[in-house]
Amino acid sequence: MKLTIIGNGAMAKALVVGLKDKFELEIVAKDTIKAMNMTNKICNDIKVHNLDSFNIDDKIVILCVKPNALADVASKLTGKARAVISILAGTKIEDLKNAIMSEYTVRAMPNIAAQFALSTTTLVGDDGFKDEAIEIMSAIGDTMWLSSEKELDIATAVAGSGPAYLALVAEAMMDGGVAQGLKRSDSIAIVNSLFRGFAPLISATHPALIKDSVMSPAGTTAAGYSALEDGGVRSAFIKSIKQAFKVTQ
Ligand SMILES: NC(=O)c1ccc[n+]([C@@H]2O[C@H](COP(=O)([O-])OP(=O)(O)OC[C@H]3O[C@@H](n4cnc5c(N)ncnc54)[C@H](OP(=O)(O)O)[C@@H]3O)[C@@H](O)[C@H]2O)c1
Repeated sequence: MKLTIIGNGAMAKALVVGLKDKFELEIVAKDTIKAMNMTNKICNDIKVHNLDSFNIDDKIVILCVKPNALADVASKLTGKARAVISILAGTKIEDLKNAIMSEYTVRAMPNIAAQFALSTTTLVGDDGFKDEAIEIMSAIGDTMWLSSEKELDIATAVAGSGPAYLALVAEAMMDGGVAQGLKRSDSIAIVNSLFRGFAPLISATHPALIKDSVMSPAGTTAAGYSALEDGGVRSAFIKSIKQAFKVTQ
């Protein structure tokens, strides 16, 4: 299967890294030199094309530009794609269909972990392309087909933005370790290892049970946990999903 990726930014790069071993890829960009600099660092046999008058007839296009670039990009494309998979946060299927001619249109919301084939990718759109869209996005991690665009927008707030939220948690814990006297490098290594170990744990066990299993009466975890509740961390996370979702509406 041949895939046409439009864009050469952070997500396009993550997708190229994740998809290159399973699919034939071509990149379409407004700045081909920039795009070639990106692809050459990853793999030499990816063709790069200029966006101007690019013909998308029968192609499977993955759209990886910022939402505000949609109209400009669409104005430079000719023909009718077989499918457009858009990763543009908040951009609705109706707007995509109005902008780019395609037999099928699907929205996908991957995250930056795509470069390690560990993205959490949610999808919604035309059922006729559902199986192929899932097959493509499965190359970069877990996929989930949702039942509405609203659900995808909520998932965007959780899993598209999620790496940034978890990065905040990680950095704060690193700083906390340093503040109590750990060397910076040790604190970073400890938190990184913590996240690696936590991934299989959270997949196997409900969060409340993990917390209960490590919180002994009047112990260290109970003391630390109550400081998090005092700081309103739980409520701040719930509000962060609400605010991020709002931006997609
Ligand atoms: N970052 C994330 O974690 C994440 C997660 C899920 C979904 N998304 C979605 O992914 C999309 C891309 O995000 P990103 O983080 O990869 O952004 P980015 O790094 O800023 O990349 C944006 C890309 O769009 C290109 N571009 C901008 N204006 C253009 C135009 N008028 N015509 C053609 N190309 C144009 C840029 O080209 P130049 O570099 O030449 O300007 C660049 O290649 C966004 O829609 C975002 O909502 C992002």
